[in-house]
Amino acid sequence: MTHPLTILGIESSCDETAAAVIHGGKIVSNVVMSQLVHQSYGGVVPELAARAHETNIMPVVTAALEQAATQKSALDAIGFTQGPGLLGPLLVGSCFAKSLAFALGIRLIGVHHMQAHVLANFIDPPKPSFPFLCLTVSGGHTQIILVKDYFAMEVLGETQDDAIGEAFDKIAHLMGLSYPGGALIDRYAQEGDPQAFAFPTTHMPDFDFSFSGIKTAFSLFIKGKTPEFILTNRANICASIQAMLVRMLLDKLTKVVQKSGITTIALAGGVAANSYLRRQLKELAAQHGWRLFIPAPAYCTDNAAMVAITAYYKYQLKQFVGLDAKSLPRCSIT
Ligand code: KG4
Ligand code: ZN
Repeated sequence: MTHPLTILGIESSCDETAAAVIHGGKIVSNVVMSQLVHQSYGGVVPELAARAHETNIMPVVTAALEQAATQKSALDAIGFTQGPGLLGPLLVGSCFAKSLAFALGIRLIGVHHMQAHVLANFIDPPKPSFPFLCLTVSGGHTQIILVKDYFAMEVLGETQDDAIGEAFDKIAHLMGLSYPGGALIDRYAQEGDPQAFAFPTTHMPDFDFSFSGIKTAFSLFIKGKTPEFILTNRANICASIQAMLVRMLLDKLTKVVQKSGITTIALAGGVAANSYLRRQLKELAAQHGWRLFIPAPAYCTDNAAMVAITAYYKYQLKQFVGLDAKSLPRCSIT
């Protein structure tokens, strides 16, 4: 009889240092340390991110092992984010994972960050069946992915400029909110009227998206307003711009469903934590009779549980990497 696999997952592609342990296919710990150092800059500063990972990785991994009540000696393998992401942050996670795997004499598994976001849908039951469509929305990506199998994914449509999370964060920054502002827009929007303000949308051909024009339109809108106006109308502004962004995502998704005939739908990525998007997509799915899968919010924003589950599936396929594996700041999901 084979023993249940125990794998440590490490994520360090951007500004979250994270570690998680999966045991017998179940996540038994999930630790995330967010970097607050970027808040006043309006975006992630790559060198500061790498330095924060350097400081945080040891305590985060230690906490993940402790929470899982797992000894290092019980690990069968280590999965780490190989890319895409910021080079400095990726190197910290990769070198740490390699050193630990080398010292323990265990296997190393390189994980694609965006595949991991998609496979977060397999952490908790019920799990989607193949094929399904995944709307993947994060700070760096906005894609509609056809998921044919765990590691057979095809991008059907994507943004031609800014990612949706980037749009949320830039809009938040223009309103004077701290970075990353996506979750703050979500929070302020709860009290607001989504129809209070009308913002122009961008129409792209086929299944692609574009968000850069919206950011420009929003900056022109804000420029003409006093700080008092923005503060008094904050909830309505947040609710209206959020509703417009979510509508753009869901209109395109509906188009892909109609064209492909695939009605099993999943959501992934940091923006999938957005409460309005989750609610609207649930309503849409109920209306059309789609089978819908949405990970818990903690498995949508960057985390290592998604890296651990991806590594778990890769282990079964014997997809290992050597100690010479290179970090890949830019790499496609296919
Ligand atoms: O997946 P993620 O954690 O990191 C990347 O791989 O990019 O996504 C981060 C993005 C940020 O732009 C952040 O503002 C956005 O996800 N985000 C949200 C919410 N929570 C995180 N955007 C809207 N509403 C939220 N509740
Ligand atoms: Zn991510």
